[in-house]
Amino acid sequence: MPAPTPEPMAEAIVSLQHLQHNLSEIQKRTGEGVRIMGVVKANAYGHDVHKVSETLEQNGVSDFGVANIQEAIDLQTGGALKKASSILAFASPLPSQIPLYLQHGIEMTLCNRETLLAAESIAAATGKKLTVHIKVDTGMGRLGLPPAAAMELLRASEQCRRIEVKGMYTHFADSSGDMEFTRRQLSDFLSLTTEYEHASGKRLLKHAANSGAILSLPEANLDMVRPGITLYGYHPAKETDTRLNLKPVMQVEAKVVFLKTVPAGTTISYGRTWTAPAITTIATVAAGYADGYPRSLSGKGATVTANGQSYPQVGTITMDQIMVNLGTRSTAKVGDRVILFGWEGPSTAETIADLSGTISYEILCAVSRRAGRVFR
Ligand SMILES: Cc1ncc(COP(=O)(O)O)c(C=O)c1O
Repeated sequence: MPAPTPEPMAEAIVSLQHLQHNLSEIQKRTGEGVRIMGVVKANAYGHDVHKVSETLEQNGVSDFGVANIQEAIDLQTGGALKKASSILAFASPLPSQIPLYLQHGIEMTLCNRETLLAAESIAAATGKKLTVHIKVDTGMGRLGLPPAAAMELLRASEQCRRIEVKGMYTHFADSSGDMEFTRRQLSDFLSLTTEYEHASGKRLLKHAANSGAILSLPEANLDMVRPGITLYGYHPAKETDTRLNLKPVMQVEAKVVFLKTVPAGTTISYGRTWTAPAITTIATVAAGYADGYPRSLSGKGATVTANGQSYPQVGTITMDQIMVNLGTRSTAKVGDRVILFGWEGPSTAETIADLSGTISYEILCAVSRRAGRVFR
């Protein structure tokens, strides 16, 4: 008889239906004729790159964006993609990684002349062509060349027989905030691409918009948009005035593993930062900061949901467990399911992020492997 597998203590439930719903909300917003690149870097913001990409591909997405060549190979060889979808790695590659782009047919972000020359000679040696997207730095200050230098790089790329320039892209620094700056980034990018397309008679795949721009700057949609956080059910910032009807794709749940009734004056957890004001029942729930429930949330008034009721998390969040104040009327039992954040109950990755001083992106990406992924 096979050994029984232990019941999971903490799980991240991933709703592929909510993912499809969010994709269709984004499609409605961008309209026909605009390609959608599914941004699935960082294990699809913690949701599982393979399941997410498979679902997106089944729903018409054929472009995927990942952080680097390692993530690209993981996606390419994982078996989730069944069609001839493209994978673009956003990082500027290390020279030693260039052969891997050719070997696996991954599209490369080209940021400078040194990489171009190295790529041309490596590609020539393998007899293959390398597809690149040139990155233009219009104000993010992270990767790419400023517009005039990017134009020189583009012209130099055209001289390289083994390099195929498929696209040109830029990334916005503050697309949910400073719209004047964002518009300036867009117009600098478009001046460059328009000049090139006019002079050469060629067309490039132009892309710029992340979630913030999809919501607030429709003229940035161009040929393709690159949504990340909106696919996973969150707005990039609270101040975004245009909103979509998004549904969180991840819900983190954990089990009650211990219950006790304590008298007034009892202190709870490390540092004894919380004291029971009156007799109360405390549940110990089997998820902690090692699962991705941030320690910085301790004592900030976050609530969890059990049997449709909300209860406050109390005391310091520990590595593997949290304590929850159930009061005196709860009927909770060991083994009950507690929702830490997600689509049921008031806590979401955004509310948790607000309380702990971060953004929903970081909360989602931090949900660790120990909390297994369950797909619905
Ligand atoms: C190059 C690039 N494009 C698009 C995105 C998606 O951004 P968001 O999740 O805000 O939509 C990211 C993520 O940071 C990115 O690095």
